[in-house]
Parts: sequence; C-alpha cells; structure tokens
Amino acid sequence: MRVLVIGGGGREHALCWKISRSKELKKLYCAPGNAGISEQAELVKVSAEDLEGIARAVSELKIDLVVVGPEAPLVLGIKERLEKQGVPVFGPSQKAAELEGSKAWCKQFLSKYKIPTAWFEVFRDAASAKKFIRVKGAPIVVKADGLAAGKGVIIAATVEEAEQAVEEILVKRSFGEAGSKVVIEECLVGEEASFIGISDGENFAALATSQDHKRVFDDDQGPNTGGMGAYSPAPVVSERMFNAVIADIMLPTIRGMKAEGREYRGTLYAGLMITKAGPKVLEYNCRFGDPETQPLLFRLQSDLLPFLVAAAKGNLQGMKFDWHPEASVCVVMASGGYPGTYRKGFEISGIAEANKLDRTFVFHSGTAQKDGKVITAGGRVLGVTARRETIPAAIEAAYAAVEKINFSDAHCRGDIGRKALSYLKT
Ligand code: AMP
Ligand code: GLY
Repeated sequence: MRVLVIGGGGREHALCWKISRSKELKKLYCAPGNAGISEQAELVKVSAEDLEGIARAVSELKIDLVVVGPEAPLVLGIKERLEKQGVPVFGPSQKAAELEGSKAWCKQFLSKYKIPTAWFEVFRDAASAKKFIRVKGAPIVVKADGLAAGKGVIIAATVEEAEQAVEEILVKRSFGEAGSKVVIEECLVGEEASFIGISDGENFAALATSQDHKRVFDDDQGPNTGGMGAYSPAPVVSERMFNAVIADIMLPTIRGMKAEGREYRGTLYAGLMITKAGPKVLEYNCRFGDPETQPLLFRLQSDLLPFLVAAAKGNLQGMKFDWHPEASVCVVMASGGYPGTYRKGFEISGIAEANKLDRTFVFHSGTAQKDGKVITAGGRVLGVTARRETIPAAIEAAYAAVEKINFSDAHCRGDIGRKALSYLKT
C-alpha cells in the first residue's frame, strides 16, 4: 500500500514512524514533513493546506490512502477533494469536521444529543454577550467560534476580563472571521484528559487514555500552548470511566453525527474535563492530539495502518487496539519564547545519542535540515519520548534523554507526568 501522510509536526512524525512499521506498507510519503520524518518517509514539497498541490501529488505518486494529520486541510474539505479522484482519505469530511471548525455548532450539537458539556450561549452581538456575562458572573469562558490557532479561548477570572474578550473577538475582530460569533460558557473545574479514537461512521475504536500539559511553564503556569508534553495511560480516567466515556460521549456523538447527515469517519478526539459530576466535553478535535499521539503510538502494539484503512472504508466493526502494558511519557522541547515570539535556525545536537537509549525515541516537530545539520524551525521542536514499566520510570527515562539534547534557547517543562503520580499506589 502506498500512503501519503499530510502535515509536518510531531504528531505526523509519530504517525509516519508507526505506519513505516506496517506489514501492509509499500511506500510512505509525507507532505511537507520535517527533518525527522525524512527518516521514515519520502518528503513531498507541498504544504498541508494546498489541496490542489496535494491532489496532484496523490495522482502522480499513485497513493492508495491519504492520512490527514492537522485540522486545517480537513476543514477546507480535503476528503471531498481527493475522493473525487477515487482516493480514500483517513479523516472526516468538511461537514463532519465542523465539530472542530465551529465551536458554536459543536456546542449546539452536544446539547441536542444530551452529551455532557458546560452550559453555554452563542452570540453575534457584543451587547447581548456582555449582558449575559454580567448575569452569569465570573469565572466564565469566552471562545471565538472558528479556528484561531489555539488562541481563541479566554478563561476570564473577572466579568471585566470576559467583556474585554468579547470586545476583542466580536468588535475588534482580532481573530478575523473566526470571531463572527462567540460562545460564552461555564468555567468547568477538574482535571483534563484527552480521549481519542477512530471511527468509521458507526463504530468506535478507542486509543488508550492520555493527558496533555497545555500551559508553557511548570505547575500549569503561563499561557496555553499546543501542548508541552503528554503521557499514556492517564490514571485520572479509571477503567469504569473509560467505558462510560465511550457509551455516554463518543458513541452518542458518532450516532448523532450520522443522524445529522454528517457521517464521521476519522479521528475523534474529545478534550474532557473530569469534573466532580463526571467527564464533560470541553471541545472536539477532528484529528489526533499533538503531542498525545507521540506517547500513544509509542505504546501501540497493533499495526495502525489496517485500522486507518478500515475507518476510511467503513469496516471497523470488531477491531480493537492492543497496547503495550508499559507507560510512555513525551517531553516537548520548545524554542524559548514559545507560544509568543521566538528565534529559530539553531543547530540541534544529541538526537542520535538520545535515540540510542533503551525504549526511547525523539519525535521531531519544528525541525528542518540545513547543510546536513538539523536546526530548529518552529515553536515546539522535539517530543522526547520514553516507555518504561511505570509512569515514574518513564518520566525519568524521558528526562534522561532530554539531558542528551542541546540547542540555544531550549525550554521544556520539568514536571511532565507528575499529575499522574497522585493516582498511583506507593
Ligand atoms: P479548547 O480549545 O476549547 O479546548 O480550549 C483550550 C483550553 O481552555 C482547554 O484545554 C482548557 O484548558 C480550557 N477550557 C476550555 N473550555 C473550558 C471550560 N469551559 N472551563 C474551563 N476550562 C476550559
Ligand atoms: N494537544 C492538544 C491538541 O492537540 O489540541
């Protein structure tokens, strides 16, 4: 089978690393990829959002399956574009990707199908939004409706802050068209977990549990990022809760999407808040999590490719992923300054030494190749990942690998995985 993976971050490196081990793979390509991905796949110089360029590459390279990493090409309709030329795509249609593409649509969907989520209201007009905020009081959450590169969510501690967020989104249009509507919702309290699986429109195959670390500094301080590290399994989700999330959240979502005429085939990723009243959906993503995919696929025993094909073609029934019993931890090494401004182009050393360590692998996110050297090329640079018998041992191993790697201005959190420790028996 000839496979093309779309994207060029850590998640796509993990997908390529795993797919490259498949018994069913003949040839793997990635567009546009990064320096690390070039070890597993042949890179195609086309950006992830250039649908016409991708369509041309797919026919020239005689691709049998396209696996889409990021949300943007899905929201642009890459599935419809490629299926016009008869190529199956792993990833939802444009109409199904609305679950991530519009927070207002998603919330209305969740409420229609009685899927647990924070209370909310949608507004187009600033005066009514502010009035609602004053009635409800703070803390309260203000969200731009559309995709805003992870920056469109404001957790407001005060009424003034929430009103200011409404002003930024609806009046100043700081997020452009993504801010033509706002969702104002309840501020949920609890611990977050990522619940990810794949669907063929009817059935759902869950991945193992995982937890991301969204804030840039230790102890969840500083601004939100795309994710500074992740681990799997996440003991905050008990086995009983795992089954309840499938029965009360994931399957009702898949059935609801079908009933709406928006059959959902691809990755379904629920960002959950585990509240005292049980798990509630914060948001849906129509793609794998980044960095959660790195530790998840590092402990996946099953061959991933047959699952992706089955989801794309609609025959996932009865398929279940097998997991390595060991835990895995991924520490993101980022460019200092991220998620704000940062410098790039610095040479990275020590990746090969880190990769020599037992059950350890360095996934690349923002890297590029220059004069035979690997240099930094993005905010999140590497996802240093290790697998061990226990979470504490995996944490230690991941940080031991981080110690081997150097680049100017490197920043990583020092507490990845620590939250899991309170759930473990001593
Ligand atoms: P989202 O893009 O909707 O996942 O929001 C980004 C982050 O904001 C989430 O991962 C949470 O940390 C936080 N968040 C979003 N919605 C809420 C909410 N209703 N209550 C508390 N925190 C939230
Ligand atoms: N790690 C969070 C995300 O992929 O959205």
